[in-house]
Amino acid sequence: MWEKRPFLLLILATVVIMIGTTVTMIVPFLSINTDEDRIASVKPYTPLQQEGRDIYMREGCNNCHTQTVRPLVSEVLRYGEYSKSGEFVYDRPFLWGSKRTGPDLARLGGKYPDAWHYKHMESPRTMIPGSNMPDYGWIKQNALNPQMIQHKMDVLDFPYTAKQISALADKNEMDAIVAYLQKLGSDIPWRKAAQTTIVGELKNPFIGDRAAITAGQKLFANNCAPCHGDQLEGGIGPELTDLDMDDDDLYETIHNGISDGGMPAFGSLGSNKVWQLVNFLKARDND
Ligand code: HEC
Ligand code: HEC
Repeated sequence: MWEKRPFLLLILATVVIMIGTTVTMIVPFLSINTDEDRIASVKPYTPLQQEGRDIYMREGCNNCHTQTVRPLVSEVLRYGEYSKSGEFVYDRPFLWGSKRTGPDLARLGGKYPDAWHYKHMESPRTMIPGSNMPDYGWIKQNALNPQMIQHKMDVLDFPYTAKQISALADKNEMDAIVAYLQKLGSDIPWRKAAQTTIVGELKNPFIGDRAAITAGQKLFANNCAPCHGDQLEGGIGPELTDLDMDDDDLYETIHNGISDGGMPAFGSLGSNKVWQLVNFLKARDND
């Protein structure tokens, strides 16, 4: 009946569309970028980090890496605390991405020491056997241009000091990208809170089991040797042949990592594999 009265139909259709627009667009707009979204500890990028971010975009790292942890259990277990909207206020443009050839990097900051990143960027396969990430060692030959970066900071309206700008003269693109990677997701203190407390008594299931030691040796070569050395002699991390730790301490260290020391957590290997590593380390311990 209405379709025979074009003018009335037009008015009613407009009203319906306006309701839809208000509900799906205008109302949500009122609640984004308000104080509720802001996180006080999230700080703008420093000049060095900002330059690293621009190199990240130039090299197309976001074609293989996302930068957002979705609020799904599997993602939080793998990468850490899910991303909050307030963490992206200084990302212009944002780099959430949509392709994960490599892992998500939103919670990367503090996962590894700087030295690990330098080696990994130089040649990913020395740190992660079988990685298909390209080598980026050549970027360290490119010096930074302090004037250009100062200009960028002004345009973005990010704070910086004259000292920060003059310090750039000694740095290269590799330093910048590592500084940027270490900032990712570390403005909110999530690492300590994410550590799982191990409840109940720990019990080594493999005491005296030779096969577990051999399995632990393989796991060590793949996961630990890049930082602790093939012969446990140390490198980025300390040597491990003279440990003053009992089985439980070792289990917890490997399971949780050392959040303020730059050792990643290996709990995701599962408790059997962590115990195999404990038994391997114990077998190699000189004490
Ligand atoms: C062709 C795809 C590809 C490109 C391009 C790429 N990566 Fe990767 N990246 C990977 C893969 C696969 C891994 C997992 C294996 C490894 O760690 O090497 C990885 C791992 C990483 C890791 C370690 C993450 C972790 O939590 O262990 C970092 C850091 C990283 N990439 C940074 C970068 C940066 C910075 C760039 C750009 C300069 C870049 N990647 C470009 C594929 C890529
Ligand atoms: C990214 C580098 C890195 C990787 C990979 C790594 N570690 Fe570590 N590890 C460290 C660093 C750095 C420390 C010292 C941290 C500190 O004490 O602040 C450390 C400390 C330790 C300690 C304590 C040593 C002591 O004397 O207190 C143990 C045990 C250990 N690692 C075992 C392992 C095992 C087993 C693996 C493999 C599953 C592993 N680590 C993988 C960097 C790494």
